[in-house]
Amino acid sequence: MDFQKVIALATRRGIFQPAFDAYGGLAGFMDYGPVGVKMRRRILEVWRKHYVINAGCLELDGALVGPEALFQASGHLGEFDDALVDCADCGKQFRADHLIKGGEEMSRDALAEAISGTACPGCGSILSEMSSFNLMFSTKVGAGKGLSGYLRPETAQSIFLAFPWLLRQNRSKLPFAGAQIGRSFRNEISPRQGPLRMREFTQMEVEHFFLPNDEPKLPTSLESIEINLVPAKGKKNSTTIGNALRTGIIGSSLVATHLARAQNFLTGIGVAKDNLRFRQHGANEMAHYSSDCWDGEINTSLGWVEVVGVAHRGDYDLSAHGNFSSKEFRVPLPGTEREREVWVPNIGKLGKEFKGEAKSILEAIKDVDVKPDISIEVNGNSVTLSEEYMSKKTERGSEMVFPYVVEPSFGLDRILYCLLESSWKNDGEREWISLPQETSPYDLLVAPLMTKDGLDGKAQGILQSALDMGVDAYYDEAGSIGRRYARADEIGIFFSMTIDHQTLEDGTVTLRERDSKNQSRLSIEDALSKVRR
Ligand code: GLY
Repeated sequence: MDFQKVIALATRRGIFQPAFDAYGGLAGFMDYGPVGVKMRRRILEVWRKHYVINAGCLELDGALVGPEALFQASGHLGEFDDALVDCADCGKQFRADHLIKGGEEMSRDALAEAISGTACPGCGSILSEMSSFNLMFSTKVGAGKGLSGYLRPETAQSIFLAFPWLLRQNRSKLPFAGAQIGRSFRNEISPRQGPLRMREFTQMEVEHFFLPNDEPKLPTSLESIEINLVPAKGKKNSTTIGNALRTGIIGSSLVATHLARAQNFLTGIGVAKDNLRFRQHGANEMAHYSSDCWDGEINTSLGWVEVVGVAHRGDYDLSAHGNFSSKEFRVPLPGTEREREVWVPNIGKLGKEFKGEAKSILEAIKDVDVKPDISIEVNGNSVTLSEEYMSKKTERGSEMVFPYVVEPSFGLDRILYCLLESSWKNDGEREWISLPQETSPYDLLVAPLMTKDGLDGKAQGILQSALDMGVDAYYDEAGSIGRRYARADEIGIFFSMTIDHQTLEDGTVTLRERDSKNQSRLSIEDALSKVRR
């Protein structure tokens, strides 16, 4: 299977197609059809089971649009950009690092030098000087001039902002992890690879928070997992996770844990282990917030495609939001409790000076580390509190630290593409999608041999029983039974059940397995319990 064939088949079978084609299309946006929606939902369900239900991550569904201050703090306004070159003659725009061999690993200065004088791949004219292009979509919030806002470029930021809230839900205990499935948006310079580079895409992200001096250990149950690693320095290495951690190939026990979990999840949904590797970023490839990052990549007809990044973000994000916003994002470091002097608001002075507003001021500084000359927002105005509105108090307290975070971040659209490419089979006689039942779009085709003698009525009764049991079943009575099997195979339906005259006599049906085409005669009850996930 190659890329063009997957795209054509996905369109024909109702999986996905380019969006807005009635208006000429808009690169980087896709619509998912009836089969694609089901496949995505199945992958999401397995992911939720893995991370939310079994691993106990606290799930969040955050807002998609965020204020400018958030993205100033997170570094996305300043640093989340790609290197752009354009052609004054034909108007085409390109990512500079995509035009130069090895460009993705180059520093910006080296890239600028390398691209200088390069000809446009479209028309041959010399390209412009390189510039930076911020990848966030901007918008206005509210009427008139409105407030500047941005569509989120990663779901992660909602989890970081919710950290103090989630910590309370977790009874102030660390470590814990937040998880989120949702859409993110990046204004890619020239997206051309369908579901592999999209401007609107779905992420499945986990932010695993822990105290800097108490990083979670690699669970024994994951130690012996074999994994293919490509370290930034050194040779490709197939070894166990435990060994990679012991020998320093992987520098963090929680990164090692999430590499193992990511592999378990991906192989569970049908990615072949031999087709999967984890490649460490070089220094110039790393996002602005990462101190270490490993991309989980799947081997495809287009080369290795990143489907998950496991990044050590240290305290980059929590300290950014702690320092830029008025919320407390630090936690007490256990074992450091002692007496110390702290500033507290002088309620009498505040009342005298600010009268009715004093209550709002106290509310605004409730969770804030108060110190002289602190500025806060009160009813839309900025208020600065000098030392005269505070006094010092001695209290027992601990050193406060920003927790660290390790993040596995999965791209759903890319995972679906890679699964389709690797699982699409053709043996010359038939074509089928060979996914595990958990990620197949339907569990069962229900098909009466013919639409007479009451076979269709019986089949519809069985269909209803299957649906009532939670089996994702699909009914098809059109055309020959062979043609119906073929249609079911083409969209990857895992089992097919045929209802014939014998069914009316003894209550048995034929159950066919998609991959092997093996057929067995079973009672309706046994067939349904085999099909049920
Ligand atoms: N949160 C990591 C990313 O969006 O790439």
